[in-house]
Amino acid sequence: MTVITIDGPAGSGKSTIGRELAARLGYIYLDTGAMYRAVAWAARENGLDIKDEKAIAVLLEQIELDFDFRSGRVAVNNKDISYLLRSPEMDALSSAVSRLGAVRNHLTHLQRQAGQNGDIVAEGRDMGTVVFPDADFKFFLTADIHERAARRKGQLDALNKTVAYEDILAQISLRDEADSKRTLSPLGPASDAVVIDTTGLMIDDVLKKILTLIKIRQ
Ligand code: DC
Repeated sequence: MTVITIDGPAGSGKSTIGRELAARLGYIYLDTGAMYRAVAWAARENGLDIKDEKAIAVLLEQIELDFDFRSGRVAVNNKDISYLLRSPEMDALSSAVSRLGAVRNHLTHLQRQAGQNGDIVAEGRDMGTVVFPDADFKFFLTADIHERAARRKGQLDALNKTVAYEDILAQISLRDEADSKRTLSPLGPASDAVVIDTTGLMIDDVLKKILTLIKIRQ
């Protein structure tokens, strides 16, 4: 069983590349950001304070979270909520909920379970550092913050969500800071990860780089 981890900040290209890499290799694709987003959505849906760890821990015991690792769809209590998870509001709420130990423990457990199902590309913030420390291949993607904001704007535009570039830049900067400075599992490369700066690179270039490195080391 092979585990490939891809970590990095928002807009570094890790989701697009993770999904494509998994498709090319025929691996399961684990989008762990979507898991944090689903918990944030459920907390908001139930009117909970996103900082109330006890209430959210109770909620986690009560709800059923389902992740389809082939299609990437997410369901809470059998309701498909995938299309509700990509918005600036959910960006901020998922980052806030990801600080809570109860949430991290719960999701880490589910993520490791998913890793037992076969070869996997696991993408997020702490895949190489915490969830799969013994992964076969670890990558950490970065990119210039202006390019990351522009990419995010393109994604939101494609979903017909109009958000000003300056607002996206400010939100990404705040989220980078929150994700990198939190106490539990902060965003950062594992000591044995290959760091790739994707600024100015096309998706295909990055994929080729990753596939070449995997082939060389296999
Ligand atoms: O990758 P994403 O933008 O969908 O992630 C949303 C938030 O979830 C991100 O700001 C931090 C959190 N997250 C995390 O803490 N650990 C992960 N492995 C994945 C996401």
